[in-house]
Amino acid sequence: MIKQNLEIVEYLEIEGGIPLRGTVEISGAKNAALPNMAATLLTDEEIILENMPNLLDVKTMKDLLSFVGFSIEKLSEKTFSFKQKTINSLVAPYELVSKMRASILVLGPMLSRFKHAKVALPGGCSIGTRPVDLHLSALEKMGADIKVEHGYIIAKAPNGLKGAHINFEKITVTGTENIMMAAVLAEGETVITNAAREPEVVDLAKMLKKMGAKIEGEGTSTIYIKGVKKLHGTKHRIIPDRIEAGTFAVLSALFDGNITIKNYPLEYLEFVNKRLEEIGVYVIPIGKDEIAIKRKKKLKPVDIETKEYPYFPTDLQAQFMTLLSVVDGVSSITENIFENRFMHVPELERLGADIKVKDKTAYIRGVKKLTGAEVKATDLRASAAMVIAGLIAEGTTRIYDIYHLDRGYENIDEKLKKLGAKLRRDMIERTL
Ligand code: UD1
Repeated sequence: MIKQNLEIVEYLEIEGGIPLRGTVEISGAKNAALPNMAATLLTDEEIILENMPNLLDVKTMKDLLSFVGFSIEKLSEKTFSFKQKTINSLVAPYELVSKMRASILVLGPMLSRFKHAKVALPGGCSIGTRPVDLHLSALEKMGADIKVEHGYIIAKAPNGLKGAHINFEKITVTGTENIMMAAVLAEGETVITNAAREPEVVDLAKMLKKMGAKIEGEGTSTIYIKGVKKLHGTKHRIIPDRIEAGTFAVLSALFDGNITIKNYPLEYLEFVNKRLEEIGVYVIPIGKDEIAIKRKKKLKPVDIETKEYPYFPTDLQAQFMTLLSVVDGVSSITENIFENRFMHVPELERLGADIKVKDKTAYIRGVKKLTGAEVKATDLRASAAMVIAGLIAEGTTRIYDIYHLDRGYENIDEKLKKLGAKLRRDMIERTL
């Protein structure tokens, strides 16, 4: 008898083609919440974070901080207090790091404040190799002694970290954030060149400054940090999620602009909005932080290249591919940040899209319509692309491995149902 190993997987089933309309509110940014939570390690005083999104990745970071010895208290729906209770362990265990790569963000603050840290290596990732070599070499340049043993990064700086000139040979978002957090308590001045300019890096710098850090140049490619002896508590509000906002802009474009978006961070999406205009989709501010989408009857194909902020974000590439898959003509998307971020292509093809990939570029020939099918969510942003595709497709779409979606989209089922979508979740047994 053949023994079969079974696993239980969750899926999302969407009835496609139902017109969506109404208003959706954008949540706090996952990629700002995570580094700002890691920064609470830099002080023994209380930090209060407002506008926190309720996401799986945020829960993983909370679990990590609790494991270290922090007490985390919910003060209201979206406001949390973080306060050091005791220090149990300066370890980020594999069990948590393997769930979320961004756990590496605890390395810089742990090392600078406690002089040692042990963090599991994030390991493989579905969208590419995503190494952390740049984080480690920068910390070594600041005087850390780093070894990788038994799958763990073991970092020590018995005499404290020292300011240094860190030139990132490649722009790295969490790398810039990690070094910024390491440098605020280091001795002397750190200069980061070729730094990431993402709004989430700026948001972290803003909170660190409220804690007493001395930082200049955030938002440009050179950041100057003067180390201080101690940081104190503060209260900080997480910025809106530009990727969630862009995802809903795409959805609204596909539903004739009938979805208005609240808390749309216009200033962070300038480049994306220009791309939308080229396609024939216009983002129109209507009052404070709210936008409407207007679109031309016939949309136009476009060529998009992903690039670090302020250019087109890799995190919106998959969602735009779904949009372009039903725009008449040939569009192209070139992925410059991650080497394996086209895993959604075969899934979109299952729904009837016509896409050819050559090297780093996907060529998308628009089809008249997508048709429902069974597909896989291959990573976080690809899962959003599948949901959009399922909502416009004719018939029923079932998306497996949907947990990816919950890592980065708060309350997505409820938000979509409020707009009129018909969807449900269930579990199924699958052979391993
Ligand atoms: C962050 C975002 C993620 C986004 C990505 C690119 C968070 C929590 N995550 O991820 O949503 O998709 O930026 O905008 O903010 N690299 C190296 N060595 C390193 C570090 C990075 O070679 O030590 C490479 C990566 O493999 C990748 C590129 O640099 O090709 C950019 O990656 P990076 O900006 O570091 O991505 P993350 O910070 O992990």
